[in-house]
Amino acid sequence: MAESPKPVALVTGANRGIGFEVSRQLGAKGFRVIMTSRDDVKGQKAARTLAGEGLDVVFYQLDVLRLDDNKVANDLKLFIDSQFGRLDVLINNAGVFLDPSRARGGSPSVFDAKLSLIRQTMDINLYGPLVLCQIAMPHMRRQHHGRIVNVSSGMGQMSEMGSGYPGYRLSKVSLNALTKIVAAEVDNDFHETDILVNAVCPGWVQTEMGGEGATIPVAQGADPIVWLATLPKGSGRDKNLVSRIGGEDRLNGLFIRGRKVIPW
Ligand SMILES: NC(=O)c1ccc[n+]([C@@H]2O[C@H](COP(=O)([O-])OP(=O)(O)OC[C@H]3O[C@@H](n4cnc5c(N)ncnc54)[C@H](OP(=O)(O)O)[C@@H]3O)[C@@H](O)[C@H]2O)c1
Repeated sequence: MAESPKPVALVTGANRGIGFEVSRQLGAKGFRVIMTSRDDVKGQKAARTLAGEGLDVVFYQLDVLRLDDNKVANDLKLFIDSQFGRLDVLINNAGVFLDPSRARGGSPSVFDAKLSLIRQTMDINLYGPLVLCQIAMPHMRRQHHGRIVNVSSGMGQMSEMGSGYPGYRLSKVSLNALTKIVAAEVDNDFHETDILVNAVCPGWVQTEMGGEGATIPVAQGADPIVWLATLPKGSGRDKNLVSRIGGEDRLNGLFIRGRKVIPW
């Protein structure tokens, strides 16, 4: 199949919450959006909703937990190659918060943490995104262009690290490290390429994960993710833009909240 004339974005966990809203906003900006979801029925329904709004979306069933299986990763690669021939944007959004909480009658303490839950959280929140970066990068390198946004959390900020919820915290601090590693590797090619890799804390967003009391509407939580994903060519080195958002040098390998740089 010929290369898609439109830019193509892949969003994980696109069936609800922030991933659904990011898909909607990217679709409205003219992207063909590959909406992935681990659940076939929920994913199809979400894609139908956005298609009904006139957006160019395609559903693909993907459980990011299963990306350690070469067949799952290869099938996804083949799907992207054969259906689109390009990948411009990767949004690593799918995530879980599996640590027990007092509100749910459990203990969030690191001393009571179950390794199996921490491992599962790492598989979904960290290793899935890592494999997806590996799948996306050959396209981005070939195109000399690409945007990767890893949806992280303030709970993964080393500078603000607090107690409890070790699975979620460890997974997000590691996702931040992954962001820096991938950004540093593409930075070596930065003169030839226009690939930007950043992490976002969306804030406390009104989704199922955000729960009661969350203050930020989903559209606002999605905004910095979509902003980073759609930064125009060359903006990674736009000194005015970088200084306006509180950066020092480049808009690559940064941690962003509300379109501003925050400390790791
Ligand atoms: N909401 C907040 O306040 C907040 C704050 C900071 C960071 N974040 C981050 O924002 C991202 C999106 O969260 P959200 O608030 O939109 O949460 P959400 O409403 O709970 O949605 C999470 C999404 O991830 C998907 N998912 C979970 N495990 C998966 C797997 N193994 N494979 C594929 N998809 C999987 C879920 O699919 P199912 O429907 O099948 O479960 C769902 O689509 C997460 O990375 C989260 O850590 C959220």
